[in-house]
Amino acid sequence: MPAHVIVGTQWGDEGKGKATDLLADDVEYVVRYQGGNNAGHTILVGDRLLKLHLVPSGVLYPHVTPVIGDGVVLDPGVLLDELDGLVEQGVDVSHLAISGNAHLIMPYHRELDRLTERHLGRQKLGTTKRGIGPTYADKAARVGLRVQDLYDMKIFRQKLDVVLKEKNAILSRVYNRLPMRAVDIETEYTVYAERLRPYIMDTVSMLHEALERQETILLEGAQGTLLDLDHGTYPFVTSSNPVAGGALTGAGLGPRDIDRVIGITKAYVTRVGSGPFPTELHDDLAEHLVRAGHEHGTTTGRRRRVGWFDAVLIRYAGRVNGLTEHFLTKLDVLSELDTLKVCRAYRYQDEEYEHFPPHQSIFHHARPVYEELPGWWEDLTGVTEYAKLPRNAQAFVDRLEELSRVPIRYVSVGPARSQTLERHS
Ligand code: IMP
Repeated sequence: MPAHVIVGTQWGDEGKGKATDLLADDVEYVVRYQGGNNAGHTILVGDRLLKLHLVPSGVLYPHVTPVIGDGVVLDPGVLLDELDGLVEQGVDVSHLAISGNAHLIMPYHRELDRLTERHLGRQKLGTTKRGIGPTYADKAARVGLRVQDLYDMKIFRQKLDVVLKEKNAILSRVYNRLPMRAVDIETEYTVYAERLRPYIMDTVSMLHEALERQETILLEGAQGTLLDLDHGTYPFVTSSNPVAGGALTGAGLGPRDIDRVIGITKAYVTRVGSGPFPTELHDDLAEHLVRAGHEHGTTTGRRRRVGWFDAVLIRYAGRVNGLTEHFLTKLDVLSELDTLKVCRAYRYQDEEYEHFPPHQSIFHHARPVYEELPGWWEDLTGVTEYAKLPRNAQAFVDRLEELSRVPIRYVSVGPARSQTLERHS
């Protein structure tokens, strides 16, 4: 059996956790392939609300092996706290598998993330301050420490001594901070090493052997397409590759192993942190959507910026991810509005752009070209069949599909698993 990829098509927070959790019913493995504890999934299981940051949502199913892949950056203290929290809530985490190739977030990464953001002042990126960018930077500079280094403390210390010399020079000379002591970090990480030991595996072999046994793998992306380091709204991006291509490098699979690429797409758009956002709303409607959609970050609690559905971004996401289908989320949040707007193109100077502009200055100044569609007043959260949605809600979904040029297969009308309507059989 092949692997499926789940990818956010906007700036993250599209509802990937719910989609993964729902699709996990039919798979044996759920793999996180990039990012770290900058992500946050909120999942409603029965009457329990679970918040996950690093552990793949498949952990909730006894038949699923949750995997933290090679492309992830892992903060061991945070992961262990998350595992303890899950165990307290009665979730069995013993089947978690972690790649030894994942990179470790170190205390100096967190500190440098905070300091560089402050240093940037008004130009700041609005990062989650979890040390994600500095950890990926060290990975690319080949001075990162990996999970496997925890199991050869001599090597761990050697690498740490080299990298800490440079980090301490930056901390003290550039930012006027106290240097960090290698021995303190070594002591802290030795404790983590022991606790993490049972979970460390050769996850690449594990996944390939699963495919050979005809089992199904779900590759779960964090963040979203527009936060991708290469394809997003650089520099207002995260430091990894959430796009479907990142799923391959981050899990160690090849393109022929993938058969479905499912884009998780919110019926409107949100963004946290800085950066351009053509359809952003600033009026009472924005407040209404934030309230109705509970648009506050799972990880940082920050209020999300909100705006109308942007078909230019979705067409772009369709291309760069090779999407086979969309999972449309939060349609219920758009109830009780007279008129809905959908951005079908951008205008900049005298030109209209149907596709994502090739230069960031155009994107920064692009004005949305809107279409208006009639809204609906009914509450959608109790609807159990797609055909029973109000006519205007169905027409809205039809139009989003036409503009997106990729089939919308699922429509979600609430946080529970049962509030998901299948559109095409
Ligand atoms: P970083 O990933 O912490 O370096 O933050 C870089 C940018 O990505 C910031 O604008 C963050 O707000 C954004 N970001 C990171 N993770 C998420 C997420 O899970 N959802 C939405 N935005 C995110």
